[in-house]
Amino acid sequence: MIEQANFSIEADAHSTAIKMRKLYDKYFESNFYRERYPVPNPATLKFLLRNGAKTAHSILDIGCGDGRYAVALLDQTEANITGSDISSAALRDFEKRVANPLLQSRVTLIHGGLDAIPAQEQFDVVLLIFGVLSHAGNRAARIAMLKDIRKLTAPWGSLLLTVPSAWRRRPIDLFKTMPAFISGKNKSFGDVQYSRQFAGSKHDFFYHLYTVNRLKGELREAGWSANHIQAESVLPEKVVTQNPWVGRLDELARPLCPASLGYGIRVVAKPDLILDNHS
Ligand SMILES: C[S@@+](CC[C@H](N)C(=O)[O-])C[C@H]1O[C@@H](n2cnc3c(N)ncnc32)[C@H](O)[C@@H]1O
Repeated sequence: MIEQANFSIEADAHSTAIKMRKLYDKYFESNFYRERYPVPNPATLKFLLRNGAKTAHSILDIGCGDGRYAVALLDQTEANITGSDISSAALRDFEKRVANPLLQSRVTLIHGGLDAIPAQEQFDVVLLIFGVLSHAGNRAARIAMLKDIRKLTAPWGSLLLTVPSAWRRRPIDLFKTMPAFISGKNKSFGDVQYSRQFAGSKHDFFYHLYTVNRLKGELREAGWSANHIQAESVLPEKVVTQNPWVGRLDELARPLCPASLGYGIRVVAKPDLILDNHS
């Protein structure tokens, strides 16, 4: 439940997914998503290739959207790629992007959340890119998602994820949650609601903004160890992806930016195998 009046946010996994599905169906049907983020962030794509995607046999892209990363990875790797998303409109756009039958033969699309992915599957690389985890709901929902992803990841595999940074994103929305946070009504610092205008009306999204420490803590609790914690970009994603020159300049500036001050935070997470041996 998202209560706009007092910003007490109790976004459980199920009700949040239902709201997100409707919102993202409209977002993709209106073409607004594609206009805003027409291509993958080039630096993030290289990060994925460097950290396992280049040599992976199987990649799972959770919350794949219209496939802006997955389709680029189909071109640049030999992996079989499974894309999953709660939005059917997103998956229709993904299908349209893959016209080549040879590429089509390497793609599986799954409509739904993690429970729609066959439990016996294990992937070399799992992607959770551009805030998908932040849309999962409250802390319990996010930890449950990370635990479920661990079961779908091979012991030698990696989870590559990017999340929005609390020090850069949505300062006004974050500020509005402060009274509820200080009074203890909303216990999770970083749970916000933001509005976006498209298809002729205003739409409210649930989002979790991360600090580096909170991201590390949630990963640890779900059985992951976090490596290579870095800034995803310096400038906003839409600026970086709408202009190739800006994308290149951002790629040069990015290594100078501390992880917590990036527009997003990116991480390579590895399954904690010690935990497996003791559970
Ligand atoms: C910000 S978009 C990112 C899409 C894509 N990863 C990209 O980088 O362009 C978030 C995506 O996550 C999907 N999504 C939100 N909650 C989800 C959930 N619980 N399970 C699967 N997909 C989800 C949305 O439908 C949307 O396509």
